[in-house]
Amino acid sequence: MKILKTVEELQNIRKTISSNVGFVPTMGALHNGHISLIKKAREENDIVIVSIFLNPTQFLPGEDLDNYPRRDEADKRICELCKVDYLFMPEISTMYEKEEVLIKAPNKSYILEGKTRPGHFDGVLQVVLKLFGIVQPTNAYFGKKDAQQLTLIMQMVKNLFLCVNIVPCEIVREEDGLALSSRNIYLDSNQRKDALCLSQSLFMAGALISRGERNSQIIKDRINEVMKDLDIEYIAIVDREFNEIDTIEVKNTIILIVVRFGKTRLLDNIWL
Ligand code: PAJ
Repeated sequence: MKILKTVEELQNIRKTISSNVGFVPTMGALHNGHISLIKKAREENDIVIVSIFLNPTQFLPGEDLDNYPRRDEADKRICELCKVDYLFMPEISTMYEKEEVLIKAPNKSYILEGKTRPGHFDGVLQVVLKLFGIVQPTNAYFGKKDAQQLTLIMQMVKNLFLCVNIVPCEIVREEDGLALSSRNIYLDSNQRKDALCLSQSLFMAGALISRGERNSQIIKDRINEVMKDLDIEYIAIVDREFNEIDTIEVKNTIILIVVRFGKTRLLDNIWL
């Protein structure tokens, strides 16, 4: 595995590759969720490129940018074990200039995640577009865990006619159901126990729906009951375009939950 720091190095290598390139963009502190994306990329492509870049433009002032876990050495070992060909780890100054052409995410980036984190998705799309420009992947792998991010990236690819195939990947969970996240390490043992309510309530919702329930409000009320003692930020039932829906459409519905544990926001969802 080669570790690359500059855009030039990566672009020069890219010019020599004529076969399929699978790309997995990350912010590091890699866990089994990231690893599942890398493994899928490894299975489906000749060359695999992973990026680790803690992108400042997607963090709002006061968010956890400075405390975000960094595990560069462990991450390098993981990528090596997963047979990644190239690991791109640029500095901030490599990725950004003082004044930039900006990307403006569509209005639906200001609901749900974007409501609490206005501008977050502008930063995500900006960095993903830059990374696509550098890597020019054939296939790029994103987790369904960040459902709104995935949807907006797919829309950007469509709107800007980008030549990349976006591959949505299933959510990887701990054995007890908690969705893996780099932010889970912020939880103390009580919060870790309570955090199980997220996946449990989503699985319960899935079970209700498979038994025939189609009313979004009833599903939300039941989720609320399971999580009644927690600091719920939102429970939303949307279609794949992220429009809120009153009636569940099987195969076209995502149920999303965000709960706060102190300063930590945990996010989970299921795609029906
Ligand atoms: P990061 O949070 O590091 O996540 C990188 C990728 O891993 C994303 O596509 C995310 O959805 C996926 N992922 C995280 N946890 C997962 C899980 N439990 N199961 C499956 N996939 C999971 O998302 C970002 O970084 C950034 O916003 C990025 C796209 C890299 C742009 O900076």
